[in-house]
Amino acid sequence: MVATLVAVLTISTFFTASLIVELKGDVLLIKQVKKYILFTLPILLITMPVLGITGNKLAGNTKHPTILKKKRRMTFIFLNGLILIFLAIFLYYRANFGFIDEVFLTAQIAELVFGIINLTLIGMNAKAGLRLSKGARTRKVHIASKY
Ligand code: HEM
Repeated sequence: MVATLVAVLTISTFFTASLIVELKGDVLLIKQVKKYILFTLPILLITMPVLGITGNKLAGNTKHPTILKKKRRMTFIFLNGLILIFLAIFLYYRANFGFIDEVFLTAQIAELVFGIINLTLIGMNAKAGLRLSKGARTRKVHIASKY
């Protein structure tokens, strides 16, 4: 649950900050936001694998359809995440050491699109998780003390 909240808040903040500065068109602010995103990226590099690993541990070898769907979604979340990391690094370098031009803008739009897709998938996994927990007789959490 904690990892879910951290991931959702981090990605939403990245998304909102990028969109606002992009719309304002303030070059200095764009550079700062891209730097801030790059430096806070490690938060996601920790929370996302935590969600995947603890989720898989909880799941065991179950064939529960909801859990199998969560696993499949996690694969897309992971692949999208790799694209987002690449774009965040690219946008940081382009903004701070290159140009804020059409190339930057195209990559920025791609980042916003992949970002919203990942937020939706993470939200769907959280919703499915909460449903699973409600149905479970003994409620376990993703980051329980035994992990
Ligand atoms: C983005 C990735 C994920 C998010 C945001 C997420 C979120 C959640 C949340 C919020 C819960 C309910 C509260 C809790 O137990 O912490 C939950 C439960 C659960 N999740 Fe995930 N989850 C993710 C990935 C996965 C994966 C990859 C699996 C494995 C297939 C998984 C398996 C489970 C299971 C089995 C439960 C029920 C635990 C119980 O018995 O109460 N999750 N998840």
